[in-house]
Amino acid sequence: MNKYLIASAVILAAFAIPACCQNLPDGPGKEATSKVCSQCHELGRAISLHQDRAGWQATIQKMVSLGAMASPEDFEAILDYLSKNFPAAEPPKLHINSARPIDIEAALTVRHSQALAFVAWREKHGPITSLDQLKDAPGIEFAKFESHKDRIVFDQPSVSANSGPAPRY
Ligand code: HEC
Repeated sequence: MNKYLIASAVILAAFAIPACCQNLPDGPGKEATSKVCSQCHELGRAISLHQDRAGWQATIQKMVSLGAMASPEDFEAILDYLSKNFPAAEPPKLHINSARPIDIEAALTVRHSQALAFVAWREKHGPITSLDQLKDAPGIEFAKFESHKDRIVFDQPSVSANSGPAPRY
């Protein structure tokens, strides 16, 4: 019956991970990262960036110049780990039916007046369901939409597709 005590002790020990490392995703290099990158500041600061491999390389270089020390293998593992788990952020999606003028301006790099014209047209036109419909949008060239088509989401505002039959009016 001591087995139960031992089992619970093991379970408790498993949860007693120091708070510093709980949020790190698992994977090779995790240990080296949490050991080396929490020496001078919180680990949270070390992983506060999202950048590509070259960016992480530069950050690690900077930390070395500030005095960070580890074996070359550990630095390599840390670089792999950070590049894989904290890569450059993807550009945000553009929800074409609910985006505000400012979102459209930023996402498509168009002028404010163009974004306003688009939103005015959208209000009259109703929900947009395909890229093709954007050919009719005034103010913004279709090429702009087309070159960002991977980011455009055609979700329908306030209609939930999977929640039973459509309401009758
Ligand atoms: C020897 C001490 C030391 C170690 C070890 C260390 N850092 Fe730093 N880190 C600093 C200092 C000092 C700053 C503040 C630098 C500044 O404000 O310019 C900093 C700031 C940062 C920043 C904020 C952005 C920036 O560039 O200033 C990031 C990200 C970072 N460290 C990542 C890491 C990573 C990843 C590791 C592990 C490889 C690490 N640090 C290990 C000293 C260290």
